[in-house]
Amino acid sequence: MPSLGRRRQTEIYSAGLVGRTAAVPVGSARLEQAARRKLRAKAGAYILGGAGAERTMAANRAAFDRYPIVQRMLRDVSCRDLSVQLLGRCLPLPFLLGPVGVLELAHREADLAAASAASATGIPFVTSNQGSYPMEEVAKASGSGPRWFQLYWSSRDELVDSFIARAERTDYDAIVVTLDTTELGWRSRDLDRGSLPFLRGRGIANYLSDPVFETLSVAEEEIGPLLRPRLGAAAALVELLRVSRGRSGRPIPPRQLANAIRRFLAIYARTDLSFEKLAALREKTRLPLLVKGILHPDDARRALDCGVDGIVVSNHGGRQVDGATAALDRLPLVAEGVAGKVPVLFDSGIRTGADIVKALALGAAAVLLGRRYVFGLTLAGEAGVRAVIDNLAADFDLTLGLSGRRAVRGLDRSVLAPHPPIDF
Ligand SMILES: Cc1cc2nc3c(=O)[nH]c(=O)nc-3n(C[C@H](O)[C@H](O)[C@H](O)COP(=O)(O)O)c2cc1C
Repeated sequence: MPSLGRRRQTEIYSAGLVGRTAAVPVGSARLEQAARRKLRAKAGAYILGGAGAERTMAANRAAFDRYPIVQRMLRDVSCRDLSVQLLGRCLPLPFLLGPVGVLELAHREADLAAASAASATGIPFVTSNQGSYPMEEVAKASGSGPRWFQLYWSSRDELVDSFIARAERTDYDAIVVTLDTTELGWRSRDLDRGSLPFLRGRGIANYLSDPVFETLSVAEEEIGPLLRPRLGAAAALVELLRVSRGRSGRPIPPRQLANAIRRFLAIYARTDLSFEKLAALREKTRLPLLVKGILHPDDARRALDCGVDGIVVSNHGGRQVDGATAALDRLPLVAEGVAGKVPVLFDSGIRTGADIVKALALGAAAVLLGRRYVFGLTLAGEAGVRAVIDNLAADFDLTLGLSGRRAVRGLDRSVLAPHPPIDF
């Protein structure tokens, strides 16, 4: 039986023989370019952008070049196993679709398309708190596929409780609480366009569909003095009308939507988080709880003390702090600190199969895709996400085999050249 990678190559090359080339480019730079060309300016700014001068984004990518792979020969790699065990489940591939908010900016079917593509391949889809569809609809789209819910920790505990209860009711397998976004980073591309999708009613479907959110009362001073009148301005209402009509479920009149956005703005950020509060959050759910955004081994250890079931090493794809350390450089330190007690996952900069090999070799149990799958979604909806998953799986499989390794299990630092390089 030819390897998974070879089967995908054959599929692509045989389509080429009859003049058909892939609508979703295989090469990661060409994929990004094609998506960039298709995205509207504000959507492109939100998806492609990072914090400040975007040095963290660049650092994330550059870090992968510091860990070159060393191929080994004559090791019989004819039978390969790409599966991983994660939170008691066997996954066919060592990657997941990570949480990305406001996917409607990339494609109308947004989270539904991504969830369905993930489910078809058996990999988990992590629904963002800032999803474009309510988590219940995403659960339906993912069917019997694995799914996790990513939580942003609102300043209102009752809303957090409600989100968790909804995730439990709709059979999410785990909750990932993102710790690095207590406030939004200084996102220069969005700021230059004066554009924040949430203010236009986008990416707040989980709030609009929540019974507790509906009843929240917020004080006027929690909202921000300038936004209050401007959300009610005619131009803003016209845009909200458009968004409201395009929503799934019951349409919301623009003024009601404007009020909901006001409430959202008052409660979405929370800067008073602490490890004590994390321990209390842990108690709120029977689902496995993972923390996302960990970069320091001490934070990982303290999170473990709070009873978390997994750690995601991530700097949010460079969207939060400019001039920060590359996430990949922190992975071995955090993995060492965690010492195998819980799985350590990784994201921020994964673009190719070789990137996945490197992250796994440095201690990740699996990795999360971010922008990479959003580019596929942009170009071809569900089929585009599927193409990204299939191509990445094939690329990973071939890189693993050609490096002289048979299985994800046992991938360790020996597949990488020593760092810093040793001069033999
Ligand atoms: C457009 C966009 C929206 C995102 N939204 C969320 C989100 O709602 N919740 C979250 O935890 N992370 C979010 N992230 C961060 C991703 O989960 C992930 O950490 C990041 O994309 C990894 O970097 P990469 O895309 O460069 O690989 C978002 C990232 C992007 C690009």
